[in-house]
Amino acid sequence: DGERPLAGRRALVTAGPTHEPVDPVRYLANRSSGTQGYAIARLLAEAGADVTLVSGPTTLPDPPGMHVIRIETAREMLAACTSALPCDIAVCAAAVADWHIAAATQKIKKTDDGRPPELRLSPNPDILATLSRSASARPRLVIGFAAETEHVIAHATAKRLRKGCDWIVANDVSPATGIMGGTENEVTLIDASGAEHWPRLDKTQVARRLVARIATFMHTQPET
Ligand code: C5P
Repeated sequence: DGERPLAGRRALVTAGPTHEPVDPVRYLANRSSGTQGYAIARLLAEAGADVTLVSGPTTLPDPPGMHVIRIETAREMLAACTSALPCDIAVCAAAVADWHIAAATQKIKKTDDGRPPELRLSPNPDILATLSRSASARPRLVIGFAAETEHVIAHATAKRLRKGCDWIVANDVSPATGIMGGTENEVTLIDASGAEHWPRLDKTQVARRLVARIATFMHTQPET
């Protein structure tokens, strides 16, 4: 069906930052707004897909017509994603924290000797790599993002191979670009055959183009 080319397909989208608690009142986070991931989830739903959006803390309202799971930490995001399998398409647009802390159960207090606390970081699970390498339930198309501040194409190409995903949407998030937290994005789509640079577009237009690509892929690649 031309209007709803992804009807009958299940899609999983991660979006937003994660918050990693330090103690009951503090957390580590990043500047992701969730805008690009939410736009992709919305356009996938408009294309007829059955969408689960797993979102970190954002100020955005739940997009209509999909299942939204709100989580805080990377570990919760992984559990929510696993619960949404099997699916046909996974788009990991979240800015997942790389590390978490064994959170203190009470608020960390300043001490009389003035010595600051030391935060011991432990690695978070990599959701994109976990989905890409799932032996039992790998989605047919797994798409990751690569937010870089230098050597964008080289880093993103290496990341695609390291994580085992099919496509990487690479972008330059240097502060001067205004992309992180902004309304526009300028991306390069990287797949096994190379890199394709897209012009600077509204994040909704980036989502529209990506979803059109996804629909073409789903219709032209034979099921295996
Ligand atoms: O390694 P880096 O964070 O740059 O990788 C970016 C890609 O990997 C994004 O698609 C992001 O959503 C995903 N990712 C993830 N889980 C992590 C770290 C990154 O899914 N723990």
